Amino acid sequence: MCGIISYLGNRKTAGKLVVDGLKKLEYRGYDSFGFAEKVNGKIRLTKKVGKISEFRENGKTFAKTNLALGHTRWATHGKVNRVNAHPHFSADGKVVVVHNGIVENHAELRKFLRGKGVKFVTETDTEVIPNLIVEFLKKNNLKEAVRKTAQKLRGRFAFVAIVAGEEKLCAARNGSPLILGIEKFFPKSDDKLLAKIDGSAFFIASDTPAFLNHTPDVVYLDDGEMVEIEASPKQDHFHAQFFGITKGTAVKKRIISLDLKESKTEKGDFAHFMLKEIFEQKETIHRALKQDEKQLEKVAQLIRKSFGTFFIGCGTAGKVCATAEYLFAKIARRHVNVIFGSEFDTQEPFLTNKTLLIAVSQSGETADVLEAYKIAKRRGVKTVGVVNVAGSSVARGSDVVLPVNAGVEKAVASTKATTAQLAILTLLAYALAGKLAEGQQMLAEAGSQIDELLNPRYSEHLEKIAQKIKRVESMYVIGKGTDYPMALEAAIKLQEVSYIHAEGFAAGELKHGPLALITKGTPLIAFVPADRSLGVGGPANGYRQEVLSNVSEVKARGGRIIGVSPQNDPLFDEWIRVPDVGNAQPIVNIIPIQLLAYHLAVLRKNNPDLPRNLAKSVTVK
Ligand code: AGP
Repeated sequence: MCGIISYLGNRKTAGKLVVDGLKKLEYRGYDSFGFAEKVNGKIRLTKKVGKISEFRENGKTFAKTNLALGHTRWATHGKVNRVNAHPHFSADGKVVVVHNGIVENHAELRKFLRGKGVKFVTETDTEVIPNLIVEFLKKNNLKEAVRKTAQKLRGRFAFVAIVAGEEKLCAARNGSPLILGIEKFFPKSDDKLLAKIDGSAFFIASDTPAFLNHTPDVVYLDDGEMVEIEASPKQDHFHAQFFGITKGTAVKKRIISLDLKESKTEKGDFAHFMLKEIFEQKETIHRALKQDEKQLEKVAQLIRKSFGTFFIGCGTAGKVCATAEYLFAKIARRHVNVIFGSEFDTQEPFLTNKTLLIAVSQSGETADVLEAYKIAKRRGVKTVGVVNVAGSSVARGSDVVLPVNAGVEKAVASTKATTAQLAILTLLAYALAGKLAEGQQMLAEAGSQIDELLNPRYSEHLEKIAQKIKRVESMYVIGKGTDYPMALEAAIKLQEVSYIHAEGFAAGELKHGPLALITKGTPLIAFVPADRSLGVGGPANGYRQEVLSNVSEVKARGGRIIGVSPQNDPLFDEWIRVPDVGNAQPIVNIIPIQLLAYHLAVLRKNNPDLPRNLAKSVTVK
């Protein structure tokens, strides 16, 4: 939800470094972009509507400077146009800010600033920030002005500010991610916790891919913290100092060396990140299984001891959580509660120090999940994070972390993180049942079957089906048991990249209303289990016949049936073969639909990596 990056250091190519970083943050927002460079005590601004990846540089694009900051926008306040694109100036042109998040009290602050004579030029909430800094600069230095400004803002935010005439960067965080990258760290002691860090250059960004090709050494800012970067007294290097927003006193931080390789975040030979990430599932399932068994057992024990376990997630992660209700009932005979992150606050009256919260999140920065964590902390609830991004807010705020290990996921539509999360929740259900080894073996076998399944011919088969349905207005997906949340997830995948109206239903629910939507040729994707499947309390021959009955009701009304199943059936107009993998079925079932959604997006000339109106990490409520 907006990407920000800034650079201050010994290189004179700050503008280029910032733009290259923005290109790596494009998944966070891609309505418009902009960057500011400090040149001869003044600030030079470049802003454009559109995607940073389409920005063409030439010999005149960048100034020679060692200080710059940039932003790629996902609009929250104000139309998508050049004026509303960041960076934003103060009315007197002295302070420039890039911001991620929402200033909830911006109307009130505008009123206050208008009273001081400020004339606003944009519709954004951000514009109050540089103007407040100017107000506070009248009696304070930059650090204090930024700190006092941050205290005035309500809502979740991260921002970076610079002032014309000063070689400094100052940034504050409360709710939105902010990470410091240190190029050539100069250690001055053996201390692990440092209030001041010396280095040749510093980046401040919303996410690590923005600068990982320059340095793996990072410091994660926490909520209520800020950092100021400036040249050392001898002007031979730079240093960063950390402070708390509330009191302005020094805060000690730890440097973490990431082992992520920047090359892993590139597309390679694939046309899009989404396709690359779908194919990476050949190995990510196996990586997800490499869990520390002691940690798994610890979580299983927390579930056993809890009086109420809640799984929370949003969007796709929410659908992954919904499978837990079925998996835990079937494998471990245990009831768990599942609720979207944005709805968790409705459960506050039931939360005690015996409650357990298990959050599933790819980014670990989703605002709705972080809000749930705040409530959990308030109520003494223990937290477990099933999270992909190491060092994210969810990872750092959880009592126990089960790492998803899927590697950097760049496409906005989640694929490999989804199936890895499914694998971990399945493993956890087995751990809870005291059958971890059985679960590990079952999932490893499913992983091998995925390896065989994911080949170019399979993808071509899905492309052919996509060709046949690419012009439909609506399509529906059904499933029973764990396939029901997967039907919901399939619908999300189809919606977000193909822009076709898609909805998922529990198979048996169609006849209670949605059947009225079926007309001649309406595609119905049906997850149909193999004959031998045994559902929770289901009939001995499993749910196959039951789901096929629901399918035949659609077929009788002219629907076009796309069956996702280990076995073909005469009712199917198209058959998408999937292996029969028992309790790992949701994992293999969703993969062909990811591919179908991808091909539909490409055939309909949509960019599957950057779907309209969306952003990878939703850091606003
Ligand atoms: C996934 O395809 C979606 N883009 C979206 O629903 C996503 O899963 C949701 O925003 C949650 O994100 P998280 O996993 O990073 O918390």
